[in-house]
Amino acid sequence: MDQIITWTDVGPLADIPAQGARTVAHPQGRIAVFRTVDDQVFALRDACPHKGGPLSEGIVHGRSVTCPLHNWVIDLGSGAAQGPDEGCTGTIPVRIEDGRVFLGLVPWAGGGGGCAHG
Ligand code: FES
Repeated sequence: MDQIITWTDVGPLADIPAQGARTVAHPQGRIAVFRTVDDQVFALRDACPHKGGPLSEGIVHGRSVTCPLHNWVIDLGSGAAQGPDEGCTGTIPVRIEDGRVFLGLVPWAGGGGGCAHG
């Protein structure tokens, strides 16, 4: 199943603090772009699957972020809540080219979106 992805340059990797995030405005909602300690980059809807908390303001650890509101831990790769909590937030494809971050912006489903299990 091929899906047309429009890759959008959202700025240099250096603009994202290590173990932090920056946000990108999108007509369908804010996107949080995270950078891990080893310079992997992930993008999620900036809305926690619990009650919509701003994941971009959470703490990044390993490949996860802890929501600042009630401490749910969200996997950056799948957008899924960890541990006993259930739910997930939409993920956005990312690629890095020449030190710049590109997001694969395709329309995403409303609500929580689908979890990328498996
Ligand atoms: S809104 Fe994120 S843990 Fe409650």
